[in-house]
Amino acid sequence: MDRPKTLVLTGASRGIGHATVKRFAEHGWRLFTCSREDIPKECRVDANWAHHVPCDLSVPADRARFVAEINDRLGDAPLDALVNNAGISPKTPYKERLGVLHGEIEGWHRVFELNFYAPLELSRGFAGALARARGAVVNVTSIAGHRAHPFAGSAYSTSKAALSGLTREMAVEFAPLGVRVNAVAPGEIETEMVSVDYEPLITRIPMQRMGTAAEVASVIHRLCDADFGYVTGSEVFVTGGQQLL
Ligand SMILES: NC(=O)c1ccc[n+]([C@@H]2O[C@H](COP(=O)([O-])OP(=O)(O)OC[C@H]3O[C@@H](n4cnc5c(N)ncnc54)[C@H](OP(=O)(O)O)[C@@H]3O)[C@@H](O)[C@H]2O)c1
Repeated sequence: MDRPKTLVLTGASRGIGHATVKRFAEHGWRLFTCSREDIPKECRVDANWAHHVPCDLSVPADRARFVAEINDRLGDAPLDALVNNAGISPKTPYKERLGVLHGEIEGWHRVFELNFYAPLELSRGFAGALARARGAVVNVTSIAGHRAHPFAGSAYSTSKAALSGLTREMAVEFAPLGVRVNAVAPGEIETEMVSVDYEPLITRIPMQRMGTAAEVASVIHRLCDADFGYVTGSEVFVTGGQQLL
């Protein structure tokens, strides 16, 4: 019998991350996760959810603690997939976009710590375990990394553009380890990150609707599947065609 596969995912408490762990759990994967909050109570009963570490990935010491704790639990076991999903898109206290002209520069540092440095350091920290499985990394980027967005601020958008670039560089660096690295770039997805203010954007989406977290989760899951064994360095737009206009 095949061994159960193992996933490490960040940002599991809600939204796309929570939908993704549910998707992998349905397929029998063993799950190691983190977010600042604990996971919702109803998910605690899922026997596949092996371990959740409450931690703040924008803090370097917390990132190191998370990597050490999970590697310790993995021991010599292989890691089949790492999904770098946790991300923030903060506004200024006046609800302005956090941009070059508005907001504290400290806010930019916080955004880059979580959206860029956490995926970088976790990928490095789990490289050995991923190599043992000839596994896969999926970075959750954004359409906002590819074009100016009316609500996402410049700090968020440039952090996601950097993560798209990191996906390309990691694909080349990790290929000799047998590890594939891809990205999923969501458009407008119904989660807490998206408010009612986003509804006018639907007219700019060819499919004329927002996406669901489950629709992003299923693409992440397939990218980690052996069927995609020759795909690395790709970024899949899950946008209803929004990047085309
Ligand atoms: N929704 C969209 O339309 C959309 C579009 C493009 C890209 N994305 C990207 O998709 C990913 C998920 O977004 P989402 O819409 O699902 O967002 P969400 O509903 O706000 O969920 C974000 C997740 O990240 C966790 N998180 C936030 N800050 C954290 C920190 N400092 N340390 C550890 N975990 C942290 C949150 O948990 P805690 O609060 O408990 O820490 C939560 O589980 C993000 O990378 C986002 O940029 C989303």
